[in-house]
Amino acid sequence: MTTDTTGTVARDGEPRPGGPADSPFVRACWRRPGPHTPVWFMRQAGRSLPEYREIRATVPMLESCRRPELVTEITLQPVRRHGVDAAILFSDIVVPVAAAGVDLDIVPGTGPVVAEPVRTLADVERIRPITHDDVPYVDEAVRQLVVELGDTPLIGFAGAPFTLASYLVEGGPSRTHAKTKALMYGNPELWHALCGRLSEVTLAFLRVQIEAGVSAVQLFDSWAGALSEADYRRYVLPHSTAVLSGLVDSGVPRIHFGVGTAELLGAMGEAGADVVGVDWRTPLDVATQRIGPDRAVQGNLDPCVLFAPWPVVEAEVRRILEQGRAAPGHVFNLGHGVLPETDPEVLTRVVALVHELSSRRADQG
Ligand code: CP3
Repeated sequence: MTTDTTGTVARDGEPRPGGPADSPFVRACWRRPGPHTPVWFMRQAGRSLPEYREIRATVPMLESCRRPELVTEITLQPVRRHGVDAAILFSDIVVPVAAAGVDLDIVPGTGPVVAEPVRTLADVERIRPITHDDVPYVDEAVRQLVVELGDTPLIGFAGAPFTLASYLVEGGPSRTHAKTKALMYGNPELWHALCGRLSEVTLAFLRVQIEAGVSAVQLFDSWAGALSEADYRRYVLPHSTAVLSGLVDSGVPRIHFGVGTAELLGAMGEAGADVVGVDWRTPLDVATQRIGPDRAVQGNLDPCVLFAPWPVVEAEVRRILEQGRAAPGHVFNLGHGVLPETDPEVLTRVVALVHELSSRRADQG
């Protein structure tokens, strides 16, 4: 980073003490010790919060992502309410794809729906590379948020090429990803052209967020777990690597997450992540063996455990913190996103419990 418009980095390149780059969250991402295990929740912005539903009652999802004042307010809501260690930008993985010219919408209760699914090279070529000027509202929202958040770090994010390609090829959400795999196996050239273009869009989108001041980025490859390790390595890894390695000099940690990825954890780390997100199926000590000692882990409370009686939640939080000690750095999170029916009070209690159980007093060394 050469300029310091955000206050994130001191002039000499060292993190400003107490600033976002020195926060418990960013320290854990870099495998540095901190005062406690940091915690945030995937999909914490929106969904379960009544104050979010009120704002969204009259504004469609994509429009809300393009209005910086709404993005700022929705992003701040879970930080105010739960005291989480990081904010995540309110947006969606399809926002940059829409900015690249793809006709799509986010349908309530369904998710992204694409008007004309990708079938040909001409369809791929219509996905324009994007620049800052295609997503000025993201730049503006991040800059506002960095000021509002002060010392709390802001996480930027994007969808990884495979997960984006699945929405573009299927036309919407899919359980089997059958059309996506048919294209991948049946026309590898077209597949690689599509993923190559998506990795350019994703990289540009993450760079806009980093230049505007986010303290970390997360690449969501939510549906990568649908693939075998061999297919992941052949069809997906080169494209996710292009995105993550393109950010190696950005100065911010890179988190890489997918669901059902027990067999892919090593490969997802190799793609260039500083932190690998783990779903609830793999204990964090086992995950650490697969990922290796050079990367931190993030996870991995089953989001459904939040519906269980409190003693069950507490026991699971304790277990996860214990197993997370096997990793060189641990960011506490869910194993996937907050479900809309979750009681926000339980999320607040989990944050307090993680902080209490993990706080390291100075006299303990
Ligand atoms: O994490 C956060 O709090 C930040 C906001 C965020 C959203 N989407 C807002 C959103 C993030 C990080 C995402 C990422 C995202 N979007 C992913 C990867 C994460 C994951 O859960 O695996 C994926 C696969 C998508 C695609 C998508 N967009 C889905 C599957 C849905 C849900 C459909 C539904 O209504 O249940 C969306 C819509 C969406 N994105 C909502 C929100 C708050 C719900 C829209 C609404 O409130 O009407």
